[in-house]
Amino acid sequence: MHLLKFLEHRRSVRIFSNTESIDPDEIKDCLKQATLAPTSSNMQLWQFIHLTDGLWREKLTKACLNQTAASTAQQWVVFVTRQDLFRSRARFILDFEKDNIARNSPKEKQKKRIAVREVYYGKLMPFLYGRFFRLLGIIRKLTVNVMGIFRPVVREVSESQMRTVVHKSCALAAQTFMLAMAEKGYDTCPMEGFDSKMVKKLLRLPRGADINMIISCGIREGNSGIWGDRCRVPFETVYDRR
Ligand SMILES: Cc1cc2nc3c(=O)[nH]c(=O)nc-3n(C[C@H](O)[C@H](O)[C@H](O)COP(=O)(O)O)c2cc1C
Repeated sequence: MHLLKFLEHRRSVRIFSNTESIDPDEIKDCLKQATLAPTSSNMQLWQFIHLTDGLWREKLTKACLNQTAASTAQQWVVFVTRQDLFRSRARFILDFEKDNIARNSPKEKQKKRIAVREVYYGKLMPFLYGRFFRLLGIIRKLTVNVMGIFRPVVREVSESQMRTVVHKSCALAAQTFMLAMAEKGYDTCPMEGFDSKMVKKLLRLPRGADINMIISCGIREGNSGIWGDRCRVPFETVYDRR
């Protein structure tokens, strides 16, 4: 089957059927597929909260501003960014990479490659992802501005910019999830129309966590599930070949 078929099938569904059910294990499987999405520095600063119990419906719908995409869904997945877990993720990846290098790199190159990873995950990642009332971001900005005089550098290192970095990767996982769902014939609606404070409280999320988006899941209610034809601006207006 062609990817295009799933891309075309995926629509933002606002009304889900209340008769056709979806299997939570299949959704879990789609979330496993979502973890195959690329992620900045492979940090995987995400968490997927899969709500399967109908008891969530009322409170979640309220937090999602009473959208029918939330109220008619059978299950929901809350995509959460977990920048606060940067230390443990970096440690996990460093440990994995050390073994990876031992398994897959030529003997004479192993020591150097491990040393590079130790600097990257042991020092650089904690430096980049740390947050402390914007101060760490200001220090990072000053550092890259000085380095940038001498060579090309990544400049998006303030605390708000690093937050964007984490959200970008999480959104790629969300899109991968929606395509995996389309492949199973399931429907989704990504939502950012919600009260994040309310959702964080409802799910008892820590301060360092952010809601990236909430994806409601189900099977579309015939043609009324989607709001008409798909609208895209002409391709020529977004395509710039140089
Ligand atoms: C980050 C993001 C947030 C969105 N939030 C909402 C939302 O809160 N409610 C909603 O009905 N649709 C939401 N959408 C769906 C868009 O409106 C939809 O993708 C767009 O209209 C294109 O339609 P299509 O997905 O059917 O191709 C969101 C989409 C994205 C990517």
